[in-house]
Amino acid sequence: MAESSVAGAHLDDADRVMQPITRLQDRMVIRGGKPLRGRVDVRGAKNLATKAMVAALLADTPSVLRDVPQISDVGVVTRMLDAYGVAVTSPEEGVLVLDPANVERAHFAQIDALAGSSRIPILFCGPLLHRLGEALIPDLGGCRIGDRPIDFHLDALRAFGAVVDKSYEGIRITAPDGLHGANIELPYPSVGATEQVLLSATLASGVTELKNAAIEPEIMDLIAVLQKMGAIITVEPSRTIFIEGVDHLSGYTHRAMFDRNEAASWASAALATGGDIFVAGAKQQELLTFLNVYRKVGGAFDVQEDGIRFWHPGGPLRAVQVETDVHPGFMTDWQQPLIVALTQAEGVSIVHETVYENRFGFTDALIEMGANIVVHKDGIESVTRRVPRRKLEQAAVVTGPTPLHATDMVIPDLRGGFSHIIAALAAEGESRLSNLSLINRGYEHFADKLADLGADFTLED
Ligand code: EPU
Repeated sequence: MAESSVAGAHLDDADRVMQPITRLQDRMVIRGGKPLRGRVDVRGAKNLATKAMVAALLADTPSVLRDVPQISDVGVVTRMLDAYGVAVTSPEEGVLVLDPANVERAHFAQIDALAGSSRIPILFCGPLLHRLGEALIPDLGGCRIGDRPIDFHLDALRAFGAVVDKSYEGIRITAPDGLHGANIELPYPSVGATEQVLLSATLASGVTELKNAAIEPEIMDLIAVLQKMGAIITVEPSRTIFIEGVDHLSGYTHRAMFDRNEAASWASAALATGGDIFVAGAKQQELLTFLNVYRKVGGAFDVQEDGIRFWHPGGPLRAVQVETDVHPGFMTDWQQPLIVALTQAEGVSIVHETVYENRFGFTDALIEMGANIVVHKDGIESVTRRVPRRKLEQAAVVTGPTPLHATDMVIPDLRGGFSHIIAALAAEGESRLSNLSLINRGYEHFADKLADLGADFTLED
C-alpha cells in the first residue's frame, strides 16, 4: 500500500485508551477452594463495541460510543483506526469519540505491527474500500480455536466488485469501480461475514440481499448503529437481510449492548465455586438459552431490573447435554466456563461443539486437575440432538463429580483461559497461571473484579 502521512498526534490518544491494558501483569497465583460472592458490573460487549468502532469509519462526522470496555481488542481497533487517521479520544472512561474527518492511507509498518493480534481488521475492508478505494489486511490473529478461515469474507467482497490480491504484505483489496450491491448466500451463518456484508453494503450502490445471515444480538445492535448513521437495513424472519445502499452516513451516538459472554462466564464461576454473584448489567432476553441450561444443571438465578443474580443453591448439580450453535442457540463462547461447573455435576454430560472445530484444547488442563473429560475429535454420532451435525464438530464427555486439585496452567485462549481461572478458584490448593494477558482481550478489569468477589490470588510479572 502506498504510504502517506499519518496523523501522529492521534497516537497519544490511542495510547491513553490502551494504557490501563498494557500495564497488566502476566501471571497469577490462585489459592482456590473459596466461593466467589458479590457483585460484578458487565459493560459493553467486545463483539459489538469493536465492530461499532469500525462502523465509525463509514461516517462523514464523529461518532460517540458509550459503555466501551477497557480490553485489549478495543486497543487493537483503536490503533488500527489511528493508523488510518481516525482520531479516537476518550473524554471519560468507557466513552470513545471517533472522528473520521481526516481518513488517509496508513503506513504499512503501522498495520503490520497489528498482525496476529485480532481478527477485527478484516472488517475494515468495506469501509476502507469506500473511503480510500483500497484496503490492506495484515495477517489476522484472534484465539487459536480452529482454522478460522476468511473465505466467506473474501467471496462477499468479490461479489461487491472488489479485487483481492494476496501479497507478501498481506491481503490487498481494491475496488476500481466502487462497490455495488450483490446477492450473497453464506455457506454458514458466520458472524464476521455477516458483519462484513453489512459494513460493505450500506454505502454500496444498489440493493444487497444476504441469505443465511447470522442474527446474533451483537449483529442486531450493529444494525441499530448503522440505522442511526442513515442506513436502510431490513431483517426478514428467514435470516435474510436486505441492505439498500445510501450515498452517505453520519456519525452515531450509541451505548453498546452488554457483554453476554462475560455475563455467562461469571454465572458459571458462581456455580463452579459454590458461590453467589450478582451480574449488574446482564439482561435476560439475550441469555434465554444460557439460563435454560443453567437451570437444568441445577444453578439458581433471579432476573432483576438492573442485572441477574446467579448462585449455587446447594445440593448436587445435574449432568446435561448441550449443543453449541448460532443464535438463538447455545453460544460456543459459553461452553468453556460451563464445562468447569459440569465437572462437579452428577453423571455424564455431553457438550457438542458445532461452531468451531478445535475448541476443547482447554480441557487438557482440567483433566490434569482431576476432571474426567474425554474429547471426541470427530464428534459423537448417535445422540438425540436438535442442531444438525457439522463436518468438523467435536464433543466433550464430562463425567462427574470429581474434585479438582491445583496445577500450573498456560492460558491458551480467551474463553478457555477464563475457564482455567474458574477451575483454579474451585480447586483445592495453589495454581499458577501464565499468559494472563490473553484474558484481557475480552474481560475488563477482571483481576479487580475477582478481588471484589473475594478471590484469593496474587499477580506477578
Ligand atoms: N468460517 C469460515 N469461513 C469464514 C468465516 C467463518 O469457514 O470466512 C467458519 C469458522 O471457521 C467457524 C464458523 O464459520 O467454524 C463460525 O465463525 P464466525 O465467522 O461466526 O465467527 P467469528 O466472526 O470469527 C465471532 C466472535 C467469536 C464467536 C463467534 C461465534 C468476534 C470478534 N468474534 O467470531 O468470539 O465465538 O463469532 O459466535 O465477534 C470470543 O469472543 O472469544 C470469540 C471467539
